[in-house]
Amino acid sequence: MSSFSSHSNPDAFPSTPGKVKMERSNIYFGRGSTRWQSSVAKLFFWTVVVVGLIVIFFMRSSSPVETRRLLSTPHWGGHDWEKRVRYSCRVKTEKGIVVLVTGAAGFVGSHVSLALKRRGDGVLGLDNFNDYYDQSLKRARQGLLDKQGVFVVEGDINDAPLLKKLFDVVPFTHVMHLAAQAGVRYAMQNPNSYVHSNIAGLVTIFEICKSANPQPAIVWASSSSVYGLNSKVPFSESDRTDQPASLYAATKKAGEEIAHTYNHIYGLSITGLRFFTVYGPWGRPDMAYFFFTKDILQGKSIDVYQGLNKVDVARDFTYIDDIAKGCVAALDTAKKSTGSGGKKKGPAQLRIYNLGNTSPVSVPDLVNILERLLKVKAKKNIISMPSNGDVPFTHANVSLAHTELGYQPTTDLQTGLKKFVKWYLSYYGVPGRISKG
Ligand SMILES: NC(=O)c1ccc[n+]([C@@H]2O[C@H](COP(=O)([O-])OP(=O)(O)OC[C@H]3O[C@@H](n4cnc5c(N)ncnc54)[C@H](O)[C@@H]3O)[C@@H](O)[C@H]2O)c1
Repeated sequence: MSSFSSHSNPDAFPSTPGKVKMERSNIYFGRGSTRWQSSVAKLFFWTVVVVGLIVIFFMRSSSPVETRRLLSTPHWGGHDWEKRVRYSCRVKTEKGIVVLVTGAAGFVGSHVSLALKRRGDGVLGLDNFNDYYDQSLKRARQGLLDKQGVFVVEGDINDAPLLKKLFDVVPFTHVMHLAAQAGVRYAMQNPNSYVHSNIAGLVTIFEICKSANPQPAIVWASSSSVYGLNSKVPFSESDRTDQPASLYAATKKAGEEIAHTYNHIYGLSITGLRFFTVYGPWGRPDMAYFFFTKDILQGKSIDVYQGLNKVDVARDFTYIDDIAKGCVAALDTAKKSTGSGGKKKGPAQLRIYNLGNTSPVSVPDLVNILERLLKVKAKKNIISMPSNGDVPFTHANVSLAHTELGYQPTTDLQTGLKKFVKWYLSYYGVPGRISKG
């Protein structure tokens, strides 16, 4: 071994770190093997660099949801877990159905799960509890479901082995598929999360359902956003939906086309529901009525968008109980899938319905109602609507859902917001006495 050290040879520490490594190797192998050592060191160095770059590439190209999924330990399996799954799916009435509700810890999913459980159906939830918005709200909804006997399995809809296991344990008659990456504006920040949940996840759900024996009937959430830049109002199911204004809308539209394919090839019975701006207790913090309430109560100013030519933006706000009733009616009227063992045996039902309220309200009117209910004057910034995927106006024609599902929205915005504000204040507390932030 060479006896020289950094102290005896100042050149052993040149300014380039790579060189230090090379020179240091001499300490261990002696001068005779310099060329060989240098090649090994180079190989080692480039291996580390290449592996590092591959890891960075995967971390960066995956959405946060995917990354967490890849890195997290699955929370499923085992005797006790299967027992909980079966228990949650017990049917308490003769005509009861057994439903897998995806996105059950979400806003709509939690309400629909409770509505089904209340009338005696077997219900199992599935949710990945992602951090798109406050996870503690999702956990609180989970707590609520748990108390009513609905078990929410923690997992991703892209996890095919998990879904297969669930179908092995329970022969679901229906799937209420509500898990998705929601929100129009967030698509500009994290486009991959929309592809992951709304396209790849939807395909995984259909794949598992088509192979299940018996195949379940599927009801899933599309969106009013598929009407995109349509200017003909009110929006009817037969109107054009090929001009999406956001990636969110495009993934929902893609979902409708994918649904057609699985219905056509495999005989899956599939019903798509185009929800129009759903609001109410246990709602989504990323939606305007929710964060307006928070900001008004905290004395912060709110941005109120105006469309072209200073026309007010308006939405067909639909109360959550009306939506939940529409979902249950869609499940109850769904015909059986016709396939078996992945093979189609005959034509199957394929439906699409608007679920809205049929009376759009402008955003300034929404703010006025909130001001009255909260007894606080809002500080408003009126600004032009940025081109971030929002559309200026939505208005549902629900006559098809009325005729075929018996759908009849009954809650106006004033009444629904009153219930929302009551919940909001009991959940978060009155400002100054806020408990959950
Ligand atoms: N709320 C509305 O106004 C509205 C309007 C139109 C359509 N929709 C659709 O209705 C459905 C429910 O919406 P919401 O308002 O309850 O949204 P939400 O975000 O509250 O609920 C969706 C739930 O799905 C879960 N999820 C997301 N990706 C998942 C994945 N890959 N695997 C497992 N779970 C996943 C989330 O954690 C969340 O709890 C969504 O499909 C949404 O696109 C909602």
